[in-house]
Amino acid sequence: MKADDTAAQEIYIAELMTEQELLENLRRNPFVLAPMAGITDRPFRSFMREMGCGIVVSELVSATGLKFSSAKTLKLMEFDSTQHPVGIQLFGENFEHLTDAAKMVEQMGADFVDLNFGCPVPKVVNKGAGSACLKDLTRLRDVIRAAKSGIQIPLTIKIRTGWDAHTRNSHEVLQVAADEGVTWVAIHGRTRAAAYTGLADWDYIREVKAQAKVPVLGNGDIVTARQAVGRLQTSACDAVMIGRGCLKNPRIFREALALRAEVQSENVPLEKIVSRLCDHLEGFYDERLTLIQMRKFASWYSSGFPGAAAFRKEIFQLHERSETLDRIHGFFAELNEVAQSDTSHEAFLMGGHG
Ligand SMILES: Cc1cc2nc3c(=O)[nH]c(=O)nc-3n(C[C@H](O)[C@H](O)[C@H](O)COP(=O)(O)O)c2cc1C
Repeated sequence: MKADDTAAQEIYIAELMTEQELLENLRRNPFVLAPMAGITDRPFRSFMREMGCGIVVSELVSATGLKFSSAKTLKLMEFDSTQHPVGIQLFGENFEHLTDAAKMVEQMGADFVDLNFGCPVPKVVNKGAGSACLKDLTRLRDVIRAAKSGIQIPLTIKIRTGWDAHTRNSHEVLQVAADEGVTWVAIHGRTRAAAYTGLADWDYIREVKAQAKVPVLGNGDIVTARQAVGRLQTSACDAVMIGRGCLKNPRIFREALALRAEVQSENVPLEKIVSRLCDHLEGFYDERLTLIQMRKFASWYSSGFPGAAAFRKEIFQLHERSETLDRIHGFFAELNEVAQSDTSHEAFLMGGHG
């Protein structure tokens, strides 16, 4: 095992990460990037690590898709050495495929396998995968066993609070997780039925954590560094997971780390941050896809800044690559010390796979 210094914090890189090492990383930096399909790809994960996030996870990957090793599926799992500790999230209903897929994740050099038990999407649920397992804990246990049977690296799971408001069962799910040697459970504080409506129930997360025999990561609706540190303290969770919050504020992880350490956060200009994202995207995608991604992220990052609506319209109307990128860089360069107003009341990405 060797230690590697990054700008954000020290991390361990192990041949095969042990549970203890993974949990040690979590203790050092309890701000974890939530898996988000179509977003947490290789360049974004590297970018977020650079921006101070402690642990990253891929978006959900179909175990059955992996069986047939489609190039598209394999691309979702790619990572680079700057990302450790990095987990690959799997889902599926076929036990044999899950065992093989988990082995493959380990062979690729990822540090842990994460299982998705939160996906509310009918296409996944109707096959008995994702959040459908919350209704059938025997099945949930068997899915965990299938994935765990072929690997030595840690296995983690991500759940919702239950299938619906009448059947919330995180206590029971956590008991199964503890019995099966799961390393941590991340809880998105909504039921499957709630989808993305209402608010994540942090009181429930706190109650579950209070009785849990496995480490718990709380998740849902954290949009500021202050909330991240506050949720960590009041829920007594071992860590918090942040998803949509880092899509409007790419500095949220660094700010949360600084706040937790009671030090001043280094105020890197947004223009520089956007340039770094562009570098990461260019290293992975061709020019066309980089531009598509840059438009998307620039739109999100502009939220709450003066002129954001006109800026968004403009960058989606510009066709020429360099002109569009110049406009994006120009917009953020002009912001200087301008404060970002709170837009958390606006509906934002109200759908996803967990
Ligand atoms: C666009 C999008 C895609 C998502 N994809 C996944 C996924 O692949 N796997 C997963 O477990 N959760 C997924 N989620 C759920 C998030 O990980 C997280 O649980 C949820 O967004 C609540 O956290 P937040 O309020 O911090 O965003 C997704 C969410 C969004 C918005």
